[in-house]
Parts: sequence; C-alpha cells; structure tokens
Amino acid sequence: LSLSLSLSLSLSLSLSLSSTGDWLVKVQNDYHYVEWRPEDEPSSFEDEVGPKHWNNLRYEHVMKLRQAALETAREIWADYLLVADCDNLLTNTDTLWKLMSENKTIVAPMLESRAAYSNFWCGMTSQGYYKRTPAYMPIRKQERLGCFAVPMVHSTYLVDLQKDASRQLAFYPPHPEYSWTLDDVIVFAYSARMAGVQMYVCNKETYGFFPVPMRSHGTLQDEAESFVHTQLEVMVKNPPLEPSSFLSLPPKQPNKMGFDEVFMINLVRRSDRRERMLRTLYEQQLSCKVVAAVDGKYVSHLLPPPLPMLPGYKDPYHGRPLTKGELGCFLSHYNIWKEIVDRGLQTSLVIEDDLRFEVFFKRRLQTLLQEVTTHKLDWDLIYIGRKRMQVDHQEKSVPNIHNLVEADYSYWTLGYMLSLQGAQKLLGAEPLTKLLPVDEFLPVMYNKHPVSEYMDHFESRDLRAFSAEPLLVYPTHYTGDQGYISDTETSVVWDNETVKTDWDRAKSRKTQEQGELKSASSFYLLHPTPIL
Ligand SMILES: *[C@@H]1O[C@H](CO)[C@@H](O)[C@H](O)[C@H]1NC(C)=O
Ligand SMILES: *[C@@H]1O[C@H](CO)[C@@H](O)[C@H](O)[C@H]1NC(C)=O
Repeated sequence: LSLSLSLSLSLSLSLSLSSTGDWLVKVQNDYHYVEWRPEDEPSSFEDEVGPKHWNNLRYEHVMKLRQAALETAREIWADYLLVADCDNLLTNTDTLWKLMSENKTIVAPMLESRAAYSNFWCGMTSQGYYKRTPAYMPIRKQERLGCFAVPMVHSTYLVDLQKDASRQLAFYPPHPEYSWTLDDVIVFAYSARMAGVQMYVCNKETYGFFPVPMRSHGTLQDEAESFVHTQLEVMVKNPPLEPSSFLSLPPKQPNKMGFDEVFMINLVRRSDRRERMLRTLYEQQLSCKVVAAVDGKYVSHLLPPPLPMLPGYKDPYHGRPLTKGELGCFLSHYNIWKEIVDRGLQTSLVIEDDLRFEVFFKRRLQTLLQEVTTHKLDWDLIYIGRKRMQVDHQEKSVPNIHNLVEADYSYWTLGYMLSLQGAQKLLGAEPLTKLLPVDEFLPVMYNKHPVSEYMDHFESRDLRAFSAEPLLVYPTHYTGDQGYISDTETSVVWDNETVKTDWDRAKSRKTQEQGELKSASSFYLLHPTPIL
C-alpha cells in the first residue's frame, strides 16, 4: 500500500520555514518519498482583512494546493490520499489503519473540539450551506457509534484512490455546474456528490482534535493560541502530546499574568492532577505556586471533633453536615487567604487543580485584570469559574468593564481572583469558628446567600464579588462523567465513618447543562471553515 499525505502547513504555528526543513531532513528516511513544496514568501491576498479572512482568492489558493496534492498522489500511484489540515491533531496512532479498513472512498475520523463543532455536517441546504439536523448531536456526542453517510466531511479525511469513483473527484476547478458559494469544503463535497461518492464520518473511537475555526478578523497570534488550546483539550482526558524530538521549539516563558501570586491548590496524593495542571499552565506560559491542599483524610488530626459548625448548617442536597473533604477544602483556601494577608499581596489568583481552560484564557484574564485596574473598580473577589445557582435572572453587568458581572449566589471555587482587601474581609469573618463549605461561605460574605439564617451569623457581609461572564474556566470532569475520579473515596461525613462522600461535594451538585458540549454557541455550527 502506498499513501500520499497532503499536509497543509501553516507557518504561524511556531514552526519556522527552516525548522520545517530541518525536520524533513531528519525524518525523510522514514518515508518512501517526500516532496515538500514551500511557498517562497508568506503572502497575503488582495482585499483581505487579515490572515484568517477567507476571501475568494484564499479559497481558490487552497483548492489549487489540494488539487496539486491529489494529482501528485495519482501520478505516483498512491493507493490512498490523506488530507489533513496542519492544526488537526490525530492522537490515535491507529487512525490510518482504522480508516482504511472501512473500505470507503471518502472517510473522515470524527475530530473533537471544545465545542459541538466537528469536521462533518449531517445536513446541507439546497444552496450548499450547513443545515442543522437532529442527527448531528447523537453522532458528535458518540451516543450513536459507527461510520455514517453524511453530505460533508472536511479538514481530515482519507480518499481511497483505488476506487474507480475517486477518479472523478476534484478540488479545483469547481464542477462546471457548481453555482454555490466559493468555499473549498463545499466545492469538494459537491464534486463528491457529482462523482456519486458518498462521504462517511466515523466516530467509533477518539481519533483526534482540532480547533474551532476563527472568525475572519482573527490574527496569526490568535491562531497560534487556538492551537495551544487544542493541545490543552487533548490533555483533558488524554496524555499530553509531545512535540517531535526532531524539532527545536523556542522555550516557553511562563509568567503570572500580572498577579502578585497565582496559587494552585492540589492534594499531594493527586499527582496526576498536579502534573496535568502544571503542564497545561506551562503550555499557556503561566507559572504558579503549588499549595498542598489540606487532605480531608487526615483532617481529624488537625481539628478533633466536634467541629465548630455553623449552627443549623445542612447540605441542601443531601441534608448532611460538613464532610471531611469539605473541611479540607475550606482549610486549603483559608490558608491561602492567610498567606495573601501575611505577604501583603495586592492581587492574587486562586485556582483548583481540575480546570479546563477556555480558549484565549490567558489573554482574556489579563485584559480583565487590566480593565478592573484601569477603571479603579473596588473589587474583592472575581470568580473566573463557578456554578451559577440562580439562572432564571440576569446578573448586573459592570459599566465600562467588558465581560464582568456582579456575582449572584454561586457554587464552586474552581478559580477566583482575590484582592488583599478581599482576603482581609474573609479572614476577618473568623469562619473557622462557624464552619460551612467554602462555596457557601463566599456567597454569605457577599450577602447573596438565599438562607438568611446562615447570613445572620456573619455581621459584615460586604465582600465585593464579581464574576467573569462568560466564565474562563470549567471543571475538567463532572461527577458521574466517564473518567471522573473523586478525590474522596476515603472522605466520609465528619462524625460518621460509614458514609462516603465527595471531596469536592459542590461539584456533585452540578447539572449537565454546564457540561462540555452545551457551551458551544450555535455560531460554530453555522458555517464551519477549516483553518489552514
Ligand atoms: C470494499 O468495497 C467494495 C465495494 O466498493 C467491495 O466490492 C469489496 O469487496 C470491499 N472489500 C472488502 C475487503 O470488504
Ligand atoms: C452513619 O450513617 C449510616 C448510613 O447513613 C447510618 O445507618 C448510621 O446510623 C450512621 N451512624 C451514626 C453514628 O450516625
């Protein structure tokens, strides 16, 4: 079998032309034949808004590149042509064999993205545009598994050149009867249709990942960050992707984004989470101080029972008192508040160790910090990840500052910015003398807790709390998801060793509506275009 691989490389993805050349020199002996056709100069197209602007000239250029790859593959009698956009990350090393064994003329591995976006369509309008159909989500979410006949696959797919029908396929020029918009993926889907070739997408396994496409005013910097984000998405459930040892990449330069300190809370025994988080932070060029969480398992040695509980406190969902895990969690955050005050840190970021980052996380957080500073907002705490508890009414947005609202009752302590003044207020409330879960304590402190009896125990509740909106981080896993490992196998209700519960109980109160795919905005489904 011979395979022709058409890989469209984009120079923006931290690979310079010369390092691509070096790489090819080192790996070419692994291949039967390698042909590299670099562009002389990174060029721009007439009338383009930016490098991500898909005008007709750019579409045409890409179509011609792919057509050249297809013709070369035919000339060298390749059995297959694998088309792959350069920012598509195939993580499953068996992908090629699996696709070949499907015995289809055109077959794509379903690619994962942060959102509902993927590299196939289930419906197409009579003008060749994307059409939303009920068939899409069950395939995208792998509720139905298999290889499905679809009107469109793009970005990464295998073409079987041994099949007679493949001879009619063309990327360029468009079919003589083509009258739809000049878009490379639609042109090719039309060509397949006219050749009588059915496209298929397979979702039997996880094959790979790719970024949600950029809008046309995106920059090369956006593209590079979006590519890093795709690597972070891989790491949510898979080991990190290692760069080729034949490439020399510039070293990353981590910083604290303008905060005086970034604290990451991690249970020492959860080295898996620590390593994953440190790697994801490093990839984003972020540095942090790892703070050993107070382990609920051993917390009885620190504070012997009975605990100074908030009188009358009961978990609203299970009706139980504070768990060891919750106490450990509280003490972990408390210790950080103390350190902030002891060191006089003006602005800090506190994060837990199971975060999933939104795209452009670092830039968006830096912008937020700059804006609140520039506009001299009087703030104590700003959530960057949380679970909103009252979703039926809108929170008040903050004038002059983008993407910031006044926080209503919220759960979770995934990530928050804290000012020195905020830490002083939290300590001043002496919460260790009347304990409740930390994510119930915070809403009490900003006077938004729905249970007024809890609030009555705290005199001053003037914490100035806000939230990023949209949020910048989500949990990597939700309780009950596949792959969720609770921290709390050993955590038990404080004074009853027989009852098991979660370390981060709060997250078990989630509802799936904040789950992975639902955060996709419908934009991503409208008119997907590959990045090249
Ligand atoms: C592959 O599909 C063709 C039809 O396109 C069929 O004739 C052939 O037997 C199939 N090969 C295998 C190995 O299933
Ligand atoms: C502990 O919890 C179990 C299960 O809910 C219950 O049967 C038992 O009576 C509890 N023990 C005490 C001492 O409360």
